[in-house]
Amino acid sequence: MSGKASDEDLALLGEHALRYVESGFTVGIGTGKAASAFIRALGHSELKIRAVPTSERSAELARRVGIELRPLEGELNVALDGADEVDANLDLIKGFGGALLREKIVAAAARYYVILVGEEKLVRRLGQRGSLPVEVLAFGVDLCARRIEALGLRPQVRRAEKGQEFSTDNGNLILDCAVEEIVEPARLERELAAIPGVLGSGLFVGVADEVLVCAAGGKISALKRRGTKAKA
Ligand code: A5P
Repeated sequence: MSGKASDEDLALLGEHALRYVESGFTVGIGTGKAASAFIRALGHSELKIRAVPTSERSAELARRVGIELRPLEGELNVALDGADEVDANLDLIKGFGGALLREKIVAAAARYYVILVGEEKLVRRLGQRGSLPVEVLAFGVDLCARRIEALGLRPQVRRAEKGQEFSTDNGNLILDCAVEEIVEPARLERELAAIPGVLGSGLFVGVADEVLVCAAGGKISALKRRGTKAKA
């Protein structure tokens, strides 16, 4: 891993990402610093689009910069979001910001899914930053935590600043699961999804079409998926 992308680097990345958008498009907009840089660039551009936000805070930012919002209906022309880890297959860990469930739904609805990251997010193996968020229904949190432990992860309920349980935009809990490097991300994603009460994990396997990576200093490179995507 290398130097963290600065706000200026992310602003350049957000501007650069405008080339994936045309007027008339319906665009999925992600959550987090990189996604916010893109939302700002979109709002300040001449592009006339409608956007589907992945969180209340992205919706608020989008409204503030004059972007028209709409609910998720049908396909999105493109969606752009950040990520917490990206491996060489363009598989991802997302959700450190807590918006993973809507992000996963929006990613699945997008014809083309583009990830924006600073190069510090590139990892040899997913799990390198030591944490995997999983969104669970509060009613099932105890069962989910025990089943997740049985998979070899160490889950802890996410807390907000004042120590209370963190509640997602969907009214659910997040289990932040301590992980070692993940050898088979697709398998772990399936195993987590099979636990009753798990609504979504931060593993996004076979979903990204392209990852735009910004190096410190603002140099941007594009990594494209080889082969076909996992989703329809
Ligand atoms: C939000 O739930 C996350 O998936 C974010 O997309 C991810 O954490 C990347 O955020 P930053 O761009 O702020 O690092």
